[in-house]
Amino acid sequence: MAHIFSFVNQKGGVGKTTSSVNVAVSLAVSEVKTLLIDLDPQANATTGISNLTEESNSTIYDVLIRGVNFKDAVTKTQFDHLDLVSSTNDLVGAEIELVSMMAREYQLKKMLESVRDEYQYIIIDCPPSLGLLTINALAASDSIIIPIQSEYYALEGLGQLLNTIRLVQKHINPNLSISGVLLTMFDSRLNLSKEVASELRSYFEDKLFETVIHRNVRLGEAPSFGKPALLYDANSTGARNYMSLVEEILERVK
Ligand SMILES: Nc1ncnc2c1ncn2[C@@H]1O[C@H](COP(=O)(O)OP(=O)(O)O)[C@@H](O)[C@H]1O
Ligand SMILES: [Mg+2]
Repeated sequence: MAHIFSFVNQKGGVGKTTSSVNVAVSLAVSEVKTLLIDLDPQANATTGISNLTEESNSTIYDVLIRGVNFKDAVTKTQFDHLDLVSSTNDLVGAEIELVSMMAREYQLKKMLESVRDEYQYIIIDCPPSLGLLTINALAASDSIIIPIQSEYYALEGLGQLLNTIRLVQKHINPNLSISGVLLTMFDSRLNLSKEVASELRSYFEDKLFETVIHRNVRLGEAPSFGKPALLYDANSTGARNYMSLVEEILERVK
């Protein structure tokens, strides 16, 4: 049965999508059967690997709101071990439409049951908010990874995020754990990056992944070609960082 994990942080631009896509692809090339779910109406994960996929008939919106069978929304990719459930801008409406549904927090969890046995890992790329879509991801997940950008306001908003996680653990999903905190866009030339790293290390201790994702232009460029870093430039620092992160994830999350 798949281990389901979400990349969560209500801040935008911290590396959730980049991490979701590149971790999913790195798992797949390691021959670990993986499903990537794009749960963000901005659909950046979907477009970020559009070069590897055919266009899908159904999206995560159809699954959550129209009750379309999960399997009918799964798109194959050019990797044998990677499938995608894509998103579109329609998903903006889901945030509101879910409100009036029964068991609205559990919709994704319920729909995922039918495919859970087919994968080793299911990765959910969350939107930059703590609304119902993210709550659905947290309800469906076994664990979460929190990407944090190495910048001056890195820790701002973290209290609210950790509080939301505690509330979800208490009321919705007692099994939810934090499998790790990931430092992204690290620049070794900047003292600020080092300061953020040591602050996170003292706060999260072992929860902080040893692997740090460096600021790397290739990671920024790859999505505009619809490719993950591993296909765009396999030797780039970004591609290597995500391969090493996946080794750590496979150790931590079994
Ligand atoms: N390590 C990195 N180095 C350089 N650019 C990055 C890196 N990680 C992400 N980016 C770029 O920063 C922007 C925000 O990243 P993204 O993964 O989309 O964040 P989020 O999903 O949290 O909003 C994107 O344009 C992405 O390509
Ligand atoms: Mg994103």
